[in-house]
Parts: sequence; structure tokens; C-alpha cells
Amino acid sequence: MQKAEIGIIGGSGLYAMPGLTNVREESFETPFGAPSDAFILGDLGGRSVAFLARHGRGHRILPSELNFRANIYAMKMLGVERILSVSAVGSLKEEHKPTDFVIPDQFIDRTFARIGTFFGDGIVGHVAFGDPVCSTVRSVFENACAEVGVVGKNGGTYVCMEGPQFSTRAESNLYRSWGADVIGMTNLQEAKLAREAEICYATLAMVTDYDCWREGHDDVTVDQVVAVLHQNADNGTKVVKAAIAAMPTERKCACADALKYAILTDKKAIPE
Ligand code: ADE
Repeated sequence: MQKAEIGIIGGSGLYAMPGLTNVREESFETPFGAPSDAFILGDLGGRSVAFLARHGRGHRILPSELNFRANIYAMKMLGVERILSVSAVGSLKEEHKPTDFVIPDQFIDRTFARIGTFFGDGIVGHVAFGDPVCSTVRSVFENACAEVGVVGKNGGTYVCMEGPQFSTRAESNLYRSWGADVIGMTNLQEAKLAREAEICYATLAMVTDYDCWREGHDDVTVDQVVAVLHQNADNGTKVVKAAIAAMPTERKCACADALKYAILTDKKAIPE
């Protein structure tokens, strides 16, 4: 199996990573089933990377249908130590405008139909998740946004909803009353599983719309979302490239030792 140091999970609008050299494609199964698509392996800025289109190339997989465990386990099998996630989100605050980026440091779980752990089936484990996002990767993303010249707010709360429908106005206002910043449908399970797999994880949340809370404005439409997705994909690609070039080689964060401090009955659930 080919190896890669940094994983990239591309979300809605980002189905490839231009600029890769020495490109190879790897398709494989994991003990948890098949990942969303083949991995595109290659070199970028002198680092080995593995790109995965979260929803599959051609956007075939709904958020609730994603095999999060296979995607993250596959990253671990490839030797990935850090995952850069790129995702489309709705904004829950006036200050986060469409085409702005937010780098969340917290999550609120509003999902109900997903598996978000490698544990179970006789293996009991509880990892710390008070700080669910790698602070090193967040800072690298923040600096990369500045370098590219896009707004990249480091910190904020991401509401992860089940979908596929967008929120009702009552729900959107509820999340705003909780002080949440952005809303999406995919990132929390990835962050949980990455933590269990001792992989650093952070998300570049690319704002596509204001959801449906904004009085006097039309509700989010699919056309609006798609138009902004294109601009975000261009800028998101630039930010990821800058982030990879600037990523420290050594890991000094706690993500790498998440299982050392976990409550655990058996460590065999996670690959070496
Ligand atoms: N992804 C993009 N916009 C969204 C929204 N408003 N709600 C949930 N997920 C989204």
C-alpha cells in the first residue's frame, strides 16, 4: 500500500486537488467497508498527500449515507497523520458572509443516524473530546487564509445536522441562540473518528449561504449555494496548498496520543 503524510477530504464543490504531481489512484476496502471513492495520492509542496472526495466524485453519497469509519480508517491505513477537511457550510451569523471561511474549534451534534466511533462490539473506549479540533492545523489554516487573501476566522462552533434537508427557521434560530457560527452535515463524525485514530483534524468551513434565519432575505436556494461553491472551491484549493506547504513536519499536539489518555478496554480497535 502507498503511504501519505497528509490527508485531504474535499467536500461539496471540491472533488479533486489540482497541482498534485506523481499522481496515483488507490482503491481499497477497510474492515469497515469501502471509502467514498478511490484515493488520489501524489505530492504537493514537497509533501505526500492523499485526497478523498467525501461524497464521491460526481457527488453520489448523501451525508447520512457516508461511511465515515471507512474514510477515516482508510486514511490511517495510508499512514496519514493529519487530515485537512474542506466543507461547505451555512452561516449562522451576519459576520460570516458567503465566500468567507471559518475554521471551527467546536461542534454541536444534531445528527441521529450515523456511526461515529470505531469502538463497540466488545471494545469499550472513551477518548477526550473537549477540544475536538487540532489547534496546530487550525493555526496553519488561519495563516494560509491570510496568505491567500481570504477571510479565515480561526475558531467558531459548527452545528452538525443530519440533513439532507436544510434546517427549518425555528431550528436555525435555535442554533443562533446557542451562539453557533456555521452549520454543515458532515464534519463531526470525521472529527470524532480522527481523534480515536490519533489523526490531527481540522476543517476549512467555506460559507456558501446564510441558511434561512436572515429576516428580509430569501431562504437558501440550491442555485445560490452552487454559485458560491465554485468561488469557494478555487479559494479553498489555494488555502489547502498554502497550508500543506506550511505544515510543521513534527506533531507536538495531543492528537497523536489521544488513546494514551483514553478509557479503553482493548487497543486493537485502532490500526498501528
Ligand atoms: N451546507 C451548505 N449550506 C448549508 C446549510 N445552510 N445547512 C447545512 N449544511 C449546509
